[in-house]
Amino acid sequence: MREVMTKSMARNIFYGGSLFFIIIFLGLSFHSHRYIVTTSTNAETLTEEVALGKRVWEDKACINCHTLMGEGAYFAPELVNVMTRWDVQDDPEAAFEVLKGWMDSQPTGIEGRRQMPQFNLTDEEVRHLADFFLWINTIDTQDWPPNDAG
Ligand code: HEC
Repeated sequence: MREVMTKSMARNIFYGGSLFFIIIFLGLSFHSHRYIVTTSTNAETLTEEVALGKRVWEDKACINCHTLMGEGAYFAPELVNVMTRWDVQDDPEAAFEVLKGWMDSQPTGIEGRRQMPQFNLTDEEVRHLADFFLWINTIDTQDWPPNDAG
């Protein structure tokens, strides 16, 4: 057997290894994408209202303080499961009412608690946000967050 590695052997290992791992990477990416589209999300229930709620969420940059599924800022509570936490996940009207109550009463001014700004949202915007929160609440997050408090 040859004692030293020739240039062409090294090159073949480099290209072969790169190709091997690129194929694995593409395979895993494809699998993740399929999993998200077919298993963990409910595309059928994704309505126009849910999309509008997401737009409010983005316009007001709620993510600057909050997280959704762990993504975002760790200043304020995780919100992917907020509708379950409030026990209104099965009742869109109650979800709207309780969210409106929350949004209207900010900032609370309670000493020792972090404050959330007043966004002066219209009822329509709050309703869309409630629809958005209800929808994300149905995503299969594989038990994230680890407890109800987020
Ligand atoms: C400047 C930071 C900040 C921004 C921006 C912000 N929030 Fe908050 N939010 C907070 C804080 C802090 C709390 C917790 C307040 C408390 O517990 O008294 C909170 C709590 C909440 C809760 C209640 C969570 C629970 O578990 O009870 C909801 C719902 C909520 N925010 C929605 C929103 C929405 C919707 C937006 C965007 C329109 C938003 N927040 C933007 C800081 C923020």
